[in-house]
Amino acid sequence: MSLIEIEKLSVTFQAQGREVRAVQDVSFNVEARESYGLVGESGSGKSTILRAICGMAPVSAGAIRLDGQPLNAGHGFARQVQMVFQDPYASLHPRHTIDRTLSEPLAIHGIAESDRRVVKALTDVGLPASFRFRYPHQLSGGQRQRVAIARALMLEPKILLLDEPTSALDASVQAEVLNLLSALREDRGLTFLMVSHDLAVIDHMCDRVLVMQHGRAVEELARADLANARMKTDYARSLFEASADRMLDATT
Ligand SMILES: Nc1ncnc2c1ncn2[C@@H]1O[C@H](COP(=O)(O)OP(=O)(O)O)[C@@H](O)[C@H]1O
Ligand SMILES: [Mg+2]
Repeated sequence: MSLIEIEKLSVTFQAQGREVRAVQDVSFNVEARESYGLVGESGSGKSTILRAICGMAPVSAGAIRLDGQPLNAGHGFARQVQMVFQDPYASLHPRHTIDRTLSEPLAIHGIAESDRRVVKALTDVGLPASFRFRYPHQLSGGQRQRVAIARALMLEPKILLLDEPTSALDASVQAEVLNLLSALREDRGLTFLMVSHDLAVIDHMCDRVLVMQHGRAVEELARADLANARMKTDYARSLFEASADRMLDATT
């Protein structure tokens, strides 16, 4: 049994009297401790899959199971699954101190030793303990994303859903945050489900990747398939070839 099982998942939004089929008949499994990527052009349904796993998108067909347990309507896997969003500025409350942001999940779940845990959470993501008393606007983009990661880890989840976690950051900072994520995954035995439009990031971080197009799964590729350009579909090939050209441009 896989840790995350997505079986024939469909998500349909009702928007202004129109149906938007954001995800159609998508299936994939993520093993415990694996890092699994979702790629595809904007609007292909990647974020919607992550939201569906958190119970934040209307599942119209199919099943989501975690450790074999089905996700019930309106009931996410709150403590086991946490999400990190693209824009850490938008996802952190501007008028709450970092201390408040990090201690809130503990308070909600009645977890003791808040002070000690908040300090450890900050140092675990490479920030000084004194940052507790700062506000988001007093931090750089990379530091804010470290806080967002610390917050996601407060309740010791098994799974992190990462939605373009570094695409709002400068290139040099991106690498630092990706390395931090890899180290945390290794240390804690975390499982990642990660969206990125940057195939260099996917290549660096993911064991397998699912290529999405117009809400459907096009092709699943393992790292070795990517390295040897073993794509079965023209769409996946064109996506990765376009990105390989960009990566070459960047290094020359
Ligand atoms: N809350 C919503 N209401 C209506 N349509 C939505 C909603 N969220 C997403 N969509 C639509 O679903 C499709 C997939 O969106 P999304 O999952 O955000 O794509 P991606 O993350 O791959 O860019 C898009 O057409 C988008 O406009
Ligand atoms: Mg998205």
